[in-house]
Amino acid sequence: GTIVHSLSLSELEILAPGVLGVSADGRIAFVERLEAGKPDDLAAALTRHNASSAQIRRLPAHTLLLPGLIDTHVHAPQYVFTGTGYTLPLLSWLAKYTFPQEKKFASRAHAQEMYPRAVRRSLRCGTTTAAWYGTLHVDATDVLARTCVKTGQRAFVGKVCMDRNGGEGYVEESAAKSLIDTNKWLDDFEALKCGDRVRPIVTPRFAVSCTGELLSGLGDLARERGGLHIQTHLAENRAECAFVKELFPASESYAGVYRDHGLLTPRTVLAHCVHLSDADRTMLHETGAGVSHCPVSNFGLDSGVCDVRALLEAGCKVGLGSDVAGGWSMSIVEAMRSAIVASRVVGHVKHAAATDAHAAKNAHVALSLAETFYLATLGGAKLLDIDSTTGNFAPGKEFDALVVNLDAGGSEDSGARPVDIFDHDDAAEMFEKFVFISDDRNISEVYVAGRRVVGPSGERVDV
Ligand code: GUN
Ligand code: FE
Repeated sequence: GTIVHSLSLSELEILAPGVLGVSADGRIAFVERLEAGKPDDLAAALTRHNASSAQIRRLPAHTLLLPGLIDTHVHAPQYVFTGTGYTLPLLSWLAKYTFPQEKKFASRAHAQEMYPRAVRRSLRCGTTTAAWYGTLHVDATDVLARTCVKTGQRAFVGKVCMDRNGGEGYVEESAAKSLIDTNKWLDDFEALKCGDRVRPIVTPRFAVSCTGELLSGLGDLARERGGLHIQTHLAENRAECAFVKELFPASESYAGVYRDHGLLTPRTVLAHCVHLSDADRTMLHETGAGVSHCPVSNFGLDSGVCDVRALLEAGCKVGLGSDVAGGWSMSIVEAMRSAIVASRVVGHVKHAAATDAHAAKNAHVALSLAETFYLATLGGAKLLDIDSTTGNFAPGKEFDALVVNLDAGGSEDSGARPVDIFDHDDAAEMFEKFVFISDDRNISEVYVAGRRVVGPSGERVDV
């Protein structure tokens, strides 16, 4: 079939047609371009790789095989109120919507009802790897991890930590208590013995809601436990940035607060990073901490427009995040579209501000389709330090993949067809249609590590 994946930031490989082999252990054995219209080519490839032709599957012309999408920043407890509150800026939105909703996860039963819905929705949208935030609660966050294990998603799961500026009844009583709970939760996680596919991630919510004592305690803990992943929010909204400056006057900048407390590591994921200086970007590059770009959320909460090109030019790792419920969609395809729009907006603003024609011409290069798909897949994998396992179809990696059917959906009469395909011949144009106009109805199958986790018609598959 037609196979599309990223080789690097700028290189999108389109194999039309191509053949991909998956071995019994769920790893990619080979991926090759075939000569179009030469049936012998397939037979030769199979022989060369010692593959059985009995287990061949041919994908129809209107189908694409893509690597699984990676959501590097998403809040599971917020799924329930997605789509509300977008007239409020970040800090008011947290107080009015987020904290009261997250507080409800004190009940394990509530988590058991809500988390499977969030994780299944994420998988249904083609997200094969997600970096989830839970809540303050050890018990509910354990439910979230078990949900990822059960549904088959590859995931990082974080118990949120906050010891100040929370909501009524939604804040931990001290840094010490937050650290005790985090250690307990990590011990429980180890007892789950779920292997590498579902892993814990240390999660100070953001500098506004954590004291310096808690931030450095979590930095130490991540290091002492063998270099655990870390996730938090950075420089999302102007009022938030001003508040952090008041709370941490001794640090050079907001990014500097995290560095000063030992939280910037090559396994740190920083969501948003809208309001950064050149020095901040250099700091991220030098520490190896990377950015989860959440453009849908940045529009939803009116936070600003992130200059992803500047991050890439500074050498920072970048992936995409849905940031539900700051973002209104679990779909990383939606995040790709918004990333393209955001990048073009940055370009137009820079163009308008340029002082002469030459400067205007060189103001900005917007993200290309290839670059944006990289952010959604291989870039996310590099950000999470799992690119030796997933992110593209390189042989040896695990088979995390989507079968995209661009001719899916209802009858012509019902008008329910999500994408009209007029021409199956041009694979690059099919891929462009996938990015700009497909929706979850076009994702007919989802695989993680070679196992199907969303079935042909989207039915649930518990593994
Ligand atoms: N900053 C601190 N907490 C949050 C959150 O839950 N969502 C978003 N978008 N930003 C935050
Ligand atoms: Fe967030």
